[in-house]
Amino acid sequence: MANLLVLGTQWGDEGKGKIVDLLTPAFDVVARYQGGHNAGHTVYVRGTKVVLHLIPSGILHPGTLCVIGNGLVISPAAFFKETSDLGSQGVRVDPSRVAVSRSAHLIMPWHPLLERVSEELRGEKKIGTTCRGIGPAYEDKAARFGVRAGDLLDLRVLREKIAENVTAKNRVFGKFGLPPLDVESIYREYKGWAEKLGPYLRDVSELLHERMKRGENVLFEGAQGTLLDVDHGTYPYVTSSNSTAGGASTGLGVGPKAIHGVLGITKAYTTRVGGGPFPTELHDERGKTIAARGDEFGATTGRPRRCGWFDAVAVRTACRINGVDRIALTKPDVLSGTGEIPVCTGYRYKREILKSFPTESWVLDEVVPEYRTLPGWPESLHGAADFDALPRAFVDYLRVLEDLVETRVAVVSTGVERGQTVLVEPELRDFVDLTRVRAGRAA
Ligand code: GDP
Ligand code: IMO
Ligand code: MG
Repeated sequence: MANLLVLGTQWGDEGKGKIVDLLTPAFDVVARYQGGHNAGHTVYVRGTKVVLHLIPSGILHPGTLCVIGNGLVISPAAFFKETSDLGSQGVRVDPSRVAVSRSAHLIMPWHPLLERVSEELRGEKKIGTTCRGIGPAYEDKAARFGVRAGDLLDLRVLREKIAENVTAKNRVFGKFGLPPLDVESIYREYKGWAEKLGPYLRDVSELLHERMKRGENVLFEGAQGTLLDVDHGTYPYVTSSNSTAGGASTGLGVGPKAIHGVLGITKAYTTRVGGGPFPTELHDERGKTIAARGDEFGATTGRPRRCGWFDAVAVRTACRINGVDRIALTKPDVLSGTGEIPVCTGYRYKREILKSFPTESWVLDEVVPEYRTLPGWPESLHGAADFDALPRAFVDYLRVLEDLVETRVAVVSTGVERGQTVLVEPELRDFVDLTRVRAGRAA
């Protein structure tokens, strides 16, 4: 079969975790390529909720190898907390099931502290980050000051890198009245992590190549979403990594030709957590209704998510940037019975109508969405699993979205559980082995 890239086409929280977990039985390996524990991927299995942050969303299937690529920034404390939380839910995490790239960068104790300073300095223009140290860890990576997971394998190197960083960071800390960092205590902590994380560390690029050579299938898992991508998103209101398709190649050390298909996860409306422009945002009761019905609270920080109408300009642009082959449409069940449903088809900016997502955040601040209003459907979609049983008005809505974003829908998600999903067979067949997906779903 083929390797599939699964990523978000909006501002994250599209339901990637659910879809990755659902499709995992058709793959031998699930590999994350960017981000860190800023992500929150929720998976439900028979009523039990599991939230994944760093560990790929394939972990609930015991036969699957989960890979954490060089493109991630890893907090060892967060990794082992997640490992132990999963353990208490009966999910085993050990080096036979999870591989971590030696080239991934580590989140160090100074990163979240520096992030707080930087957010404070921005004042009203703060990004509203998850405060996990993600941005500063990527800053150090680009500045070539970063400590990599592989540095844990030589304690002399580890101590030296910590000492270099502490000297530099303490100068900044002094300016902001923060207490200085202490090399020895940080070294002791990370020496402890070295012992625990060591067995997980691998050359991930080589590992993936070996697996692919044996004919195994890989699912590449994106975190965040296209509009949070550091290059293609609503800069500066973005995360610090490439969540778009190109990130899979650089973030795992695989050539672009190893990616055979791209599935874009797309919510039937739009949400965003944190600051930044959001043209179709609703500030009225309808927004509150969607938030309540969709249970729109951040899986990582618990913050309420901002809600708005479906934005075809944004999703069409995301499909172009990522080369999306098919869409998995999630959460349309939330819109059942809410009356007419406006969909944004273009932006009015000054005297122009924009059909493509503007690359400047300050332009987005000023655009006025143009809407096409669709009838909506009164019937519940909750739990639907059969395309032919879907209400006519919903299928019409889906066809309009497909036309607007110029991409076909291959999956319709109608609830949080694996079984609450419509697999649109002809659209999905070329990308996943449906027999394996169905068998996994029934198991
Ligand atoms: P991710 O970050 O893209 O993995 O998405 P999150 O897990 O942060 O947020 C998606 C939320 O929607 C989770 O609570 C999911 O359980 C839930 N969800 C996913 N698909 C559906 C769906 O089709 N319908 C409903 N009602 N909820 C869904
Ligand atoms: P998943 O994978 C939604 C947002 C933050 C903030 C901005 C920068 O669950 O879809 P960061 O801590 O990354 O520097 O914050 O990005 N953000 C997310 N929003 N879903 C996510 O991940 C997010 N990860 C980061 O809210 O606006
Ligand atoms: Mg999430």
